[in-house]
Amino acid sequence: MKIKTLTQDDYDIIIDLWKRAGLSYRPNGRDSRNEVCRQIKESNVLFIGVFENNVLIGVVVGSDDGRKGWINRLAVEPRHRRKGVAQFLINAVENALRKRGRKIICTLIEDWNENSLKLFEKCNYVLHRDIFYLSKRENEGV
Ligand SMILES: CC(C)(COP(=O)(O)OP(=O)(O)OC[C@H]1O[C@@H](n2cnc3c(N)ncnc32)[C@H](O)[C@@H]1OP(=O)(O)O)[C@@H](O)C(=O)NCCC(=O)NCCS
Repeated sequence: MKIKTLTQDDYDIIIDLWKRAGLSYRPNGRDSRNEVCRQIKESNVLFIGVFENNVLIGVVVGSDDGRKGWINRLAVEPRHRRKGVAQFLINAVENALRKRGRKIICTLIEDWNENSLKLFEKCNYVLHRDIFYLSKRENEGV
C-alpha cells in the first residue's frame, strides 16, 4: 500500500471510488469537479489516498477549521475492506491534523452506519449521543 496526497488530477478516480463505496454523491454541489478541485487547493484541506498497484483503494478528506480537525468522505474499495485500510487513512489524517496543532479530531456519521461507528470507536473516538447535527443549505443540491 502506498499513501499519497491527492491533487486535482485525481478527481475522476476519487469520484469513482466514492461511487463504488456507496457514499452519497452530489455531482452538482459539493462533489462537482469545480467544487472538489477548489477544496483540494484550500490550505486547510487534505485529500489522502491509498494505492495498491497504482489503483486508488481508499480515500479520506481531512480539514482544519482552526479549532477542530475533521475527518470526512472516508471510503474504501469494497474488495479491499477489513484489511485495515480505513484505520491506516484515519491515522494518516490524524497525524496531519495534529501537526497543524489540532487537539480535537471529529467526524460525523449517519446513525445507520454501524460499520463506520465501529471503525471510529475502534480508533478510540467517543460517541456523543447528546448532540444533534443541524445544517442550513442554499439548496438541496449543494
Ligand atoms: C467504513 C469503511 C470505510 C471501513 O473501511 P475498512 O478499510 O474496511 O475498515 P478497516 O479494515 O480499517 O476496519 C477497522 C475496524 O472497523 C470495524 N469495521 C469495519 N468494517 C466493518 C464491518 N463491515 N462490520 C463490522 N465492523 C467493521 C471493525 O471494528 C474493524 O476492525 P476488525 O476488522 O479488526 O474487526 C468501509 O466499509 C467503507 O468504505 N464503507 C462505505 C463508505 C462509508 O460508510 N464511509 C464512512 C463515512 S463516515
